Amino acid sequence: MTDFIQLAYLVATALFIFSLHWMNNPKTARKSVYAGVLAMTLAVAATWSRPDVVHHLWIIGAIAVGFIVGVPLSRVALTAVPQRTALSHAFGGLAAGLVGVAKFYLWTSEGPEQLTTFRVSAIVAEVLLGFLTFTGSLMAAGKLQELKWIPQRPVTYPGQNVVNIGLLLTALGLGVWLVLNPTGPASGLLFPAIIVMSLAFGVLLIIPIGGADMPTVISILNSYAGLSAVAMGFVLDNSLLITAGALDGSSGLILSIIMCRAMNRSFVNVLFGAFGKVQAAKAGGEAKVYKEETIEGAAQILEQASSVVIIPGYGMAVAQAQHRTRELYDQLTKRGISVKFAIHPVAGRMPGHMNVLLSEADIPYTDQIGMDDINPDMHQCDVAIVIGANDVVNPAARYDKSTPIFGMPIIDADKAKTVFAIKRSKNPGFAGIDNELYFADRTFMLFGDAKAVVGDLVKQLSGAQSGH
Ligand code: TAP
Repeated sequence: MTDFIQLAYLVATALFIFSLHWMNNPKTARKSVYAGVLAMTLAVAATWSRPDVVHHLWIIGAIAVGFIVGVPLSRVALTAVPQRTALSHAFGGLAAGLVGVAKFYLWTSEGPEQLTTFRVSAIVAEVLLGFLTFTGSLMAAGKLQELKWIPQRPVTYPGQNVVNIGLLLTALGLGVWLVLNPTGPASGLLFPAIIVMSLAFGVLLIIPIGGADMPTVISILNSYAGLSAVAMGFVLDNSLLITAGALDGSSGLILSIIMCRAMNRSFVNVLFGAFGKVQAAKAGGEAKVYKEETIEGAAQILEQASSVVIIPGYGMAVAQAQHRTRELYDQLTKRGISVKFAIHPVAGRMPGHMNVLLSEADIPYTDQIGMDDINPDMHQCDVAIVIGANDVVNPAARYDKSTPIFGMPIIDADKAKTVFAIKRSKNPGFAGIDNELYFADRTFMLFGDAKAVVGDLVKQLSGAQSGH
């Protein structure tokens, strides 16, 4: 039986690794999900078959609760996936924290010899990381969901870093004390104090963060959740939990680093919190003039083009305009026009957001080009069509130090010979700042909902063709 369990754990670990690897490419992403599901099923089944499991009903109850919570969570709109992911991390952190609490009191009741230095160290790491991930992720989910009672913009106060780091160091210090004196007279108080501090730290870590840094925070919390699972693996002496947690922790860390680079945030800054102070949109200011174009005019210019680059952003996701965009792609490509999609790593609200939508509309992977690969060709592009993107094409990121997106690499839409920008209003994007691209000489606005405007363009182009 034990051999079977170890073999199942080994296969599950390999499947988790393949799952992460296949996630690298849209072509293999589906396979990746199936491998992950299979690995998790195998892991649960193997663990359940362990002879030391005595309460089968508790496991059935936990699986039932998992279904009740998990099925509705799986049905959220794609635009709400970041907050949904944060909720998953919250549950993971809570589970690790609660296992740590249960084990601490169980071993305390069994006698002092059970509370070895190794075990208590692992428990302290588990509850610290688990509970701070729990409250931190709940706060992050609440902010992204724009709950009224959680301020969206960063809340800062003087000495915030000192308070946050002081609280974390105090919790760590108490943890070390507990490890050294697990059965000392104060241990009954120390353990709950560590829990309360880590719960508080999770909240304090997130409140100063807002705006464009939230995705990075979520993936750092992913990493913390993974590390708490590693600690839980040591507490429960379960090798699969250790490896799966390490994979989770390191993938979260790698994703955070990739996102930091894509948004030009300093990683140290992110780790220590109190960052991402997003400035409010500059009120008023001099009235700049937008040039608008009609659908007929835009269609005519598109028909003359030989190279078109479509730059999708969050607005395309909100409008669910990916299928209309596919029709536009078809209309243009059948005229022999080269059409590519320029994908910014943080376009939308989660990594890979644009790829998922475009792939759903069957746009070939080979035409979905990453920012670094498309930028060198942007000056040869006849028409750039910006569909509901804003920050990721804002030239202010190149030079305006006063903006929250300063230093973020952008898609060089402004280098195209003509730019059509589709959005509903003159409102700014996620970072809350004006976009000079929209006032540029070569830019023409097509105001309206992305699905409607792209649909009108398609109608115009197909009408024009059938009329010929
Ligand atoms: P944004 O800067 O958020 O701009 C989206 C634009 O879409 C808005 O200006 C909005 O203008 C327009 N829009 C909204 N609904 C629309 C609709 N139905 N039809 C047409 N247009 C619509 O988007 P972006 O350029 O994709 O940049 C992403 C931003 O989100 C970055 O700042 C990034 O750092 C941040 N962020 C990214 C992630 C990840 S990992 N991708 C996660 C969280 C945050 P109107 O209101 O005028 O229509």
